[in-house]
Amino acid sequence: MHSFSTRARPIDLGASSTHGNQALQLPRCLALLGGTTRWSDCVEALRYLLRPAQLVQGAKIEEYEQAFARTVGVKYAISFGSGRVGLYALLRALGVGEGAEVLLSVPTHIVVANAIRYTGARPVYVDCHLEDYNIDLGDAERRITPRSRVLLLQHTFGIPVEMDAALVFARRHNLVVIEDCVHALGARYDGRQVGTLGHGAIFSTEETKTISTVMGGMAVTNDPNLASRMRTFQASCSWPRMWLSARYLMKFVVYYMLTEPHVHRVARIAYERMGRRNPLPVPTTEEERKGQRPRNYERRLGNGQAAVGLCQLSNLEKSLGHRELVANAYRDCLARSGLRLPQAPAKAEPSFVRYPVWVEDRPSVIRALAPHAVLGTWFTSVLEEAESPEVAGYEPGSCPRAEQAAQHLINLPTHPRVSERDVSILATALLKAVSSKKVV
Ligand SMILES: Cc1ncc(COP(=O)(O)O)c(C=O)c1O
Repeated sequence: MHSFSTRARPIDLGASSTHGNQALQLPRCLALLGGTTRWSDCVEALRYLLRPAQLVQGAKIEEYEQAFARTVGVKYAISFGSGRVGLYALLRALGVGEGAEVLLSVPTHIVVANAIRYTGARPVYVDCHLEDYNIDLGDAERRITPRSRVLLLQHTFGIPVEMDAALVFARRHNLVVIEDCVHALGARYDGRQVGTLGHGAIFSTEETKTISTVMGGMAVTNDPNLASRMRTFQASCSWPRMWLSARYLMKFVVYYMLTEPHVHRVARIAYERMGRRNPLPVPTTEEERKGQRPRNYERRLGNGQAAVGLCQLSNLEKSLGHRELVANAYRDCLARSGLRLPQAPAKAEPSFVRYPVWVEDRPSVIRALAPHAVLGTWFTSVLEEAESPEVAGYEPGSCPRAEQAAQHLINLPTHPRVSERDVSILATALLKAVSSKKVV
């Protein structure tokens, strides 16, 4: 059950949204992205765009890594161009490769499975629980073999895994524990931050996550040997080209403006018309969708992105408090609807990057809420964005609950641009949509 008690922050949902009373009357459409960004963060991005010599390399990277480590409460944080490369780095530093098996839960993202496969190891897919979309240890037990080396624990949507049981399981089978905290920056389990509970962990600051550097990731650990091996690997990774770094920062600013809820109503239509011709960089390449390894995979984080990351971290506590209030408000509005809402383990304090709700007819709910928000659809596949899950060795039918979740989940936004009124509008529209279909 939910227990959000230890992060009680006095934040007024209405006041923390970006509109005044007059603007309240204007139609808004909430975007999935851009919600964590403030104008002051954009000013920082623009400053780096005007100083190209400092865009790629510079002192901000180390400063950001240290700030990130302090935020999570670990000794070492090593930055990479994405969370997936952070995972790859961590696995390599642990000596995971050919012949090893990594247990991970689905649904997840294709790039997670790819990072495992690129080391030469085999991803072993484990089904999830439908209460929290996290790993089902009973199913994991059935998939243990003498080659099992790593238990990758994904805190899906920001809901911490039942860590007491998971750590006992890992000890019993002599597995190394890696936490995938990509959705879960700021979440806690038994009073401890996620990312501190295993041998190492990864975070992402890709633009849809709790904080954004457009693309970016962090691998963290308390183990000095692991950290030193990851540092060596980081040093061997290529720097992003200056033009790519500039495009990331341009995207950061452009998306901040286009995702302002009043602007987004119109901007979204233009964006959809543009489709794949969008000139700004996309997070997942065609090769990755096919399970192939892209060129320049092993990439570092740029200095300008790190500067933006520092700005985002400085607002993290406030943003997490907001997300908590929004998630609680959704839960309160929808509690008696009969809809399946997420249920966190007793010791967990989730930090919802998005709030997942199970609906019978997802397309009709998305259509019904489209005037108010672009709903998230994590997950539309057991391996999100894969051309087909089989490209990464997933056997159809092997994780039936995850496959069902991939048909039925919508995700409501929790980011700082969501106001109290937005929550009420979205919840009302959702209840109307499901009751008109008689599917609750
Ligand atoms: C659960 C999960 N883990 C890891 C990743 C990889 O993060 P990144 O996009 O920064 O590589 C993703 C990507 O969305 C994800 O959803």
